[in-house]
Amino acid sequence: MVYLTRREHFNAAHRLYHPHWSDEQNEAVFGKCANKNYHGHNYNLFVTVKGEPDPNTGIIVNLKDLSKLIQSVITDKLDHKNLNIEVDFLKGIMPSTENIVKAIFNELKPHLKGCELHSIRLFETENNFAEYFGL
Ligand code: NI
Repeated sequence: MVYLTRREHFNAAHRLYHPHWSDEQNEAVFGKCANKNYHGHNYNLFVTVKGEPDPNTGIIVNLKDLSKLIQSVITDKLDHKNLNIEVDFLKGIMPSTENIVKAIFNELKPHLKGCELHSIRLFETENNFAEYFGL
């Protein structure tokens, strides 16, 4: 079994807050991320698929096709958007990195043909990322 990863990128705004909490409570838990006027991140998304290389082509999946699929199903819907209010597959979800990787995994998985989705890894900053394997 070979694991193959494609990196994609998007920029987006979000805000972390619990709607039933006071401003003070939200700021105590989420700090700067609770900012009422939102803030942005340059997200780097790593999609890893797994499979056996085809004996004729030596590849698991065409990376150009995989890139186009990720863009049409995922990153085109996230890029330059407000993750709290504008993305259909994030509706009602607190847009933390942890929750976003789960939502992307579940959204992308049914669209993959000829290989299996192994993991979604999302860097929110250079130092912080979350990863989801479907379980
Ligand atoms: Ni943030």
